[in-house]
Amino acid sequence: MTPDPWIDVCASPALTDGGEGVRFELPAAVPGERGEAAFVVRFDGRAHAFLNRCAHQRAELDWLPGRFFDEAGLYLVCAMHGALFEADSGRCVAGPCAGAALQALHCEEHEGRVRVALRRPGRPGASGRIDE
Ligand code: FES
Repeated sequence: MTPDPWIDVCASPALTDGGEGVRFELPAAVPGERGEAAFVVRFDGRAHAFLNRCAHQRAELDWLPGRFFDEAGLYLVCAMHGALFEADSGRCVAGPCAGAALQALHCEEHEGRVRVALRRPGRPGASGRIDE
């Protein structure tokens, strides 16, 4: 049986535009490696997923669990030094890592659930091929 290529994160209504996000752990892509903290948020009607790792010093972004957005609900903000990231692309638009970006994950909504692809962009699969 082929393993499910998705991780089920939450029900679609759990995410509101510019509201709280949902944290989850992305299992390790390679056996023996540790999983990584990740999160999903909703912005402009769509769900977006990123590794929970700032582009500046790799700190987790949320200042309280699930609180990723700034007060206006427009940008993701890093609690450590205040970098601001576009919520759709993950690109840093202000702060110490301006021009860098969060690691985006492939995310989609399916049958009322938000799910994220287990395969990380740019990482090889079991056979070593990135595109498998
Ligand atoms: S660790 Fe995120 S802005 Fe410095």
